[in-house]
Amino acid sequence: MDTSGTYHVPVLLKQSVEGLVTDPDGVYVDATFGGGGHSREIVSRLSPKGHLYGFDQDADTMANIIRDERFTFVYSNFRYMRNFMRWYGHRKVNGILADLGVSWHHFDDSTRGFSFRFEGPIDMRMNQKDGIKASDVLNDYPVERLAQLFWLYGELQNGRQLAQAIGRARANSRLETVTQLMDAVRPVLGREREKKDTAKLFQALRMEVNHEVDALREMLTGAVDLLDKDGRLVVITYHSIEDRMVKNLMKSGNIEGDIKTDFYGNRQVPLRSIGKPVVPDAAEQAANPRSRSAKLRIAEKI
Ligand SMILES: C[S@@+](CC[C@H](N)C(=O)[O-])C[C@H]1O[C@@H](n2cnc3c(N)ncnc32)[C@H](O)[C@@H]1O
Repeated sequence: MDTSGTYHVPVLLKQSVEGLVTDPDGVYVDATFGGGGHSREIVSRLSPKGHLYGFDQDADTMANIIRDERFTFVYSNFRYMRNFMRWYGHRKVNGILADLGVSWHHFDDSTRGFSFRFEGPIDMRMNQKDGIKASDVLNDYPVERLAQLFWLYGELQNGRQLAQAIGRARANSRLETVTQLMDAVRPVLGREREKKDTAKLFQALRMEVNHEVDALREMLTGAVDLLDKDGRLVVITYHSIEDRMVKNLMKSGNIEGDIKTDFYGNRQVPLRSIGKPVVPDAAEQAANPRSRSAKLRIAEKI
């Protein structure tokens, strides 16, 4: 399959949408519209009464908007999902899908700095109209804070050495491009782990720039409230930090995983997990190597 020029190939498409759409007349949210692959599959399962709201914070995704009366595109960060849905007149919805992270489009665009495969500015903002760039984080954060970031969001054992190497390099000149960053950190990265650790370093920067942990926390917490009884929450994650947050939420209703009990000691949990986590089969992983780290979790509102 020649996928060059493809905006994105949806991951775990059938399994996620089958888990999501339980009522063709229902109202659904795709929190991460992207190339619209999941959204198109959802719309195809709706009756004329059903409706889908697709959120994305990246203006580039507007090129993929679905021209169908049953679809509404919302150009926004998904952290505001619950408020937007109220604005559209829905206090409750029948299902919410989130396919987290970035699309192929982000990785394949050399001007946006998401990938270490290309030379270009280290930007990494999903919403290019707002916020600080990854180069600002690299140049302006104290070394100690960078070390923390690399440890927390990249789970990098050598986070402190990486931060110190960046501190030394930026004392000479600001780090603005992928090549400048790679030249600064390469001496610290072991040859055999260079690719893996670089991917983690880029992940950590991307998560910081886009406030991914805060946005996910707010979206997930809002989702619990927004779901109607028996409504489904379907989430595809790509790394352990976001997966832990989703797993905890589905178990307890909060991302810390604290199960609350009532006065009599009865567990107060708003969601029930449906089945075990699903990962792409060998055929999907071979056809779409970027799907390899994906994990799908489904829960139902009690
Ligand atoms: C993995 S892609 C989704 C691909 C989509 N499921 C498809 O089939 O094409 C993730 C998308 O979510 C968007 N995104 C990530 N975080 C977001 C957030 N906090 N708010 C809104 N959109 C977000 C990204 O811009 C990207 O387009």
